[in-house]
Amino acid sequence: MLEHLKDQPADKILALIAAFRDDPRKDKIDLGVGVYKDPTGLTPVMRAVKTAEYKLWQTQDTKTYTGLAGDPAFADAMIGLILKGAVARDRIAAVATPGGTGAIRQALELIRLAAPEATVWLSNPTWPNHPSIIKYLGMKSAEYRYFDEASRDVDFAGLMADLVGVRAGDVVLLHGCCHNPTGANLNAAQWAEVIALLKARGAVPLVDIAYQGFGDGLDADALATRAVAAGFDECLIAASCSKNFGVYRERTGLLMAVARDAKEQKTAQANLNFLNRQNYSFPPDHGARIVTMILTDPELRADWEAELEEVRLNMLTLRQSLAAELQRLTNSDRFGFVAQHRGMFSRIGATPAQVEQMRAEHGIYMVGDSRMNIAGLNAATVPILAQAIVASGA
Ligand code: LMR
Repeated sequence: MLEHLKDQPADKILALIAAFRDDPRKDKIDLGVGVYKDPTGLTPVMRAVKTAEYKLWQTQDTKTYTGLAGDPAFADAMIGLILKGAVARDRIAAVATPGGTGAIRQALELIRLAAPEATVWLSNPTWPNHPSIIKYLGMKSAEYRYFDEASRDVDFAGLMADLVGVRAGDVVLLHGCCHNPTGANLNAAQWAEVIALLKARGAVPLVDIAYQGFGDGLDADALATRAVAAGFDECLIAASCSKNFGVYRERTGLLMAVARDAKEQKTAQANLNFLNRQNYSFPPDHGARIVTMILTDPELRADWEAELEEVRLNMLTLRQSLAAELQRLTNSDRFGFVAQHRGMFSRIGATPAQVEQMRAEHGIYMVGDSRMNIAGLNAATVPILAQAIVASGA
């Protein structure tokens, strides 16, 4: 049997982890996978997470199964964090999932159950695992323009022109904040236009929100997702705790399905539970429990919010100093977009050959489409990267 298998293409983002690890150069710089690093290069366990884990160790007296949807307290806490009352609770079905990828996968499986013929629209570009999972599930997809290569900002005219092609019942995947891989985001007025257009087309939005708190703040980063949830009869929201709680390897995420009414919510919930059962039975609990403890304990929550804000401001400072250094070196505002982008990533606009050159000559690792993880920098490496970008001709 196994002899019939073909090799699978390596995931381009994950392949960078191994390539970086195997590079013997001491001064190499890792701007690849979307993992936060502090100025010393460490991905820390957040203070509130440590405290919650210690409390959990002291108080947890069983590890028996939770429910198929995970602990309902986790869903309540996350729905509060993300939607903050934007939609009546009895319209929201929710399941815990193994990370944000698990939420995306379960969302797509739910769509396939409910509407196998629906086309899923993706921004061009998007996180490469989106089209990969869709293809694997045998679903139809289409692209809408998103990024203007010249300004490195959102191609809003192109986006609106393409979304006019959405048919009733199609699903449109939107990044709630901190667009991955570009770092370019819609402003509030543009979100309102997108929502109005998609409503008129009869679309079902699927919001991927993986970086809440990494852009303009916890609340600001959720505003678009709240507007979507409040604006449509139905939508899906896939959330990740990997980044904003730093619990990457615990695999902690939530999928919400906002239904038309409480009756349809019940059926949606039963289908989400069914999908969990088919794929892995009960979702992982440890990370979800830690997140619940943090969100429901005022002291822990305040500490978590404070540390998350430090993380956000650190990335913002790095953006500003990289943009300033590039301005100094080029004597132009060509790279001003780096300071305007939000979240972990910016697509710098280098060609694959230029990305390769930066890796070969300077040991700088970024994704081939020139997506760089801003958090991989520190005060000492910002000027080195700026020099390398300019030298590459990008
Ligand atoms: C990324 O885009 O780098 C992260 O979301 C990690 C991943 O799984 O790709």
